[in-house]
Amino acid sequence: MRHVALIGLPGCGKSSVGRHLALALHYTLVDLDLEIVHRTGKPIPEIFEEVGESGFREMEQSVLESVHGYRNEQGIVLATGGGVVVTEACREILKSHWKTIYLEATIPTLRYRLEAERVGRPLLHGQDPLEDRLKRLLREREILYQDTAHQTIQVDNKSPSEIAQAIVQSLLG
Ligand code: S3P
Repeated sequence: MRHVALIGLPGCGKSSVGRHLALALHYTLVDLDLEIVHRTGKPIPEIFEEVGESGFREMEQSVLESVHGYRNEQGIVLATGGGVVVTEACREILKSHWKTIYLEATIPTLRYRLEAERVGRPLLHGQDPLEDRLKRLLREREILYQDTAHQTIQVDNKSPSEIAQAIVQSLLG
């Protein structure tokens, strides 16, 4: 399986690691959230406002299916959205047709990285502390990430480029 998909909670580094990994492998980087934004012409928070999380999940699945369809000889690194694993059909696609890697981060790391970036991430909005939201998402999703991934990489205290290098090594090995 040549094509690589990165999964994990918001803030784990899927997009930044994806950029480094795509460069190192000479693959094309596809960012699932950006594809959704391009196709709808709307930012993610607006999509959530208009069609709710369930409408967003349907779009996410349909875009994942079409990215899967247009993969060709050129390898792809896919940076997914943190909630892609919530949809069973998406988990099946990622398990069967991608080399899927879970970027596992602890809550303090995620909180530190997301403190300035809560805007634009509807599921992290709200009055309650960011840490509580992240803990809840981790509780709900950890098993799904583990079940979907072929490999898990611990990302705390590592730069995106170090993580990408670790992935390259494991793909070669
Ligand atoms: C989501 C994560 C976001 C984006 C959407 C939903 C989630 O992507 O897909 O806001 O459910 O965790 P990031 O993981 O890049 O923040």
